[in-house]
Amino acid sequence: MITLIGQTKGGVGKSMLTANLATYAAHEGRRVLIIDADRQQTSGRWASVRTIEKVKPVIACAALNIDKRTDAKGFAQKIKGLANEYDEIILDCGGQDSRELRTSLAIADYMIAPARPSQADLWGLGDLDTLVTQVEAINPDLTAKIVLNLADPLNFHNAAGQAIEIMGELEALEFGGVTIVNRPTFASAFQDGHGVRDLKQSAPSAAKATADIAALYNLVYGD
Ligand SMILES: Nc1ncnc2c1ncn2[C@@H]1O[C@H](COP(=O)(O)OP(=O)(O)OP(=O)(O)O)[C@@H](O)[C@H]1O
Ligand SMILES: [Mg+2]
Repeated sequence: MITLIGQTKGGVGKSMLTANLATYAAHEGRRVLIIDADRQQTSGRWASVRTIEKVKPVIACAALNIDKRTDAKGFAQKIKGLANEYDEIILDCGGQDSRELRTSLAIADYMIAPARPSQADLWGLGDLDTLVTQVEAINPDLTAKIVLNLADPLNFHNAAGQAIEIMGELEALEFGGVTIVNRPTFASAFQDGHGVRDLKQSAPSAAKATADIAALYNLVYGD
C-alpha cells in the first residue's frame, strides 16, 4: 500500500509522522520503505541517524525526486515497482505544491494531510483540497484524510471541535478523527533516529505519544 504524508504547507509534521508511522508499522512486523521525496531530506536524515545508531527494527529509506517534468512517469513507475517489494510505502513530500506531491497523489492509495488545529492553518487547506478534487478524476480510489498535529495538550478537545467545523467546508478532504498532541517526546525521539514506539513504554510520556501514533496507524492500516 502506498501512503502519502502530504501537505502544501511546511512545518506541519509530515516528516515526524512519516518516521513514526513507519516505526509503528515496522514494530507490527510490516516491511516498510520510506520514500523521501523532499529535497530537504528530513526523513532521510532521520533514517541515516537510525542506521548509524543501529536502532531496531531496521527501516529502509530511499530518496527520490523529479528533476524534469518528463521524470514524473519514471518517479511513479519506480514507486509502484517498490510497492511490490514492501508491505508499506510511506512517502514524505515537501511542504509545497510540487511535481512530487502531484505525482504521488496520482498513485497513492491513502493520503494523510497533517494540519495544525489553528484557524489560519485550516483555512490554508483549501489549496490542497482543490488539488485532491482534481486528482480524484485520475485516482478515484485515493482516500484522503486530515490528521490534526501539534495540538495543545491542555486544550486539544476544544481545538479539535473548532477544527472539525472549519474542515466541514472542504470538498475532497475530511477529518480522519485522529489528533496528535504537541509532545516534547516526539521531537527528542526524532532527533535520535527513533519513533516513539521504539521507546520504553513504561514512561508515561512515551506511552501517550505511542497511543497517538497507534490511532494514526489504525486509521491508515486498520479495516
Ligand atoms: N506532535 C508533535 N509534538 C512535538 N513536536 C512536533 C510534533 N510534530 C512535529 N513536531 C516538530 O515540529 C517540527 C516540524 O515537524 P516536521 O519537520 O515533521 O514538519 P514537516 O511538515 O515535515 O516540515 P517541512 O515542510 O519543512 O518538511 C519538527 O521540529 C518536529 O520535531
Ligand atoms: Mg518534512
